Amino acid sequence: MRTLGTMAETAAFQATAPSPVILVPTMGALHAGHAALIDAARARAGRNGTVIVSIFVNPTQFGPNEDLAKYPRTMEADLEMCSTHGADAVFAPTADEMYPPGDSTFVDETKLSRGLCGAQRPGHFRGVCTVVAKLFNIIRPDAAIFGEKDYQQLAIVRRMARDLFFNLEIIGHPTVREADGLAMSSRNRYLDADERKRAAAFPAALSTAAQENDPGQIMAKATALITNGTGSAPQYVELVDAETLAPLAPLAALERPAVLAAAVKIGETRLIDNVRLAPRHAKV
Ligand code: PAF
Repeated sequence: MRTLGTMAETAAFQATAPSPVILVPTMGALHAGHAALIDAARARAGRNGTVIVSIFVNPTQFGPNEDLAKYPRTMEADLEMCSTHGADAVFAPTADEMYPPGDSTFVDETKLSRGLCGAQRPGHFRGVCTVVAKLFNIIRPDAAIFGEKDYQQLAIVRRMARDLFFNLEIIGHPTVREADGLAMSSRNRYLDADERKRAAAFPAALSTAAQENDPGQIMAKATALITNGTGSAPQYVELVDAETLAPLAPLAALERPAVLAAAVKIGETRLIDNVRLAPRHAKV
C-alpha cells in the first residue's frame, strides 16, 4: 500500500492506477464502520481496480467552538487498517497542501445544507463540500463511498457532484452499528462509560418512533424517547423527504421515502443518527 502526501505524488499514482478508482474519504480515527466502507470499495474495485482512502481532518468543517484540536488522530492504526482491508493507497495530505496559503475559494451547496445539522453547525457543509470537491479533483475517482449515518452529508455530496458535473458515482453505505445499535462514529470514543450506556437509547428511540403513524407523532415520540432514554433533549428531530431533505408537515402523508434524522449531545459528545422510512401508501 502506498502512502501519498502531496498532490504531485497522488497525480503520478493516479495516472497509472487501474480503473475503476474508488475513493473512501475519511477524517481518520478509523473504526469498523470505515473498515466496512473500505471493504465495499475493494469489492466495487474488484481485484484489478484501485482503492484509495483519504485521511484528512478537515479544518474548514469545524466551527470555532468545535472539537478540531481534540479530534482523535490515530494515523499508525489507520494505515494498518487500510492495508489490512486491501486499500491500494492512502492520501494523507497536510492542511497547507489542501488549503494553500492565500486561497479564497469555497464550495457551498445552498439548499440541502441549511436545515438539520447545517442549522446547528453554520459553515460545516461548506467545509465538507470544499474538501470533498478538492479530493474529487485530486484523485479523480470513478466512485466515492460515504456512510449513511451522515445522511445529510451524503445527500449534499450527491447534489454537489450532480450540480458541478463531477463525473463519478456517489455510493451510500448502510450505517454500521455496535451490538446495542449505536451507530459507529470516531466521536464515540469521547463517551465515558455512563454516557456510552445512555447513548444506546438514541438509535432505539428513532427506530421505535418510526413506527408511529404520521410525521407529527413520529417526531414527538422520538423527542420524548431520546430525552428520557439518553437524559438529554435532542438538538433536533426532523422527518424530512429523503431526497430534498424538506421537512414534512405534522400531518403530511408518508407517500415518498423519508428520513427521521436527529442529533443529541450526551455530555460533550454530539451524536447524529437517522432511520429511513419507506413510503406508506394510503389504505383503500
Ligand atoms: O464524513 C467525514 O469523515 C468527513 O465529513 C469527510 C467526508 C471525509 C470530509 O472531510
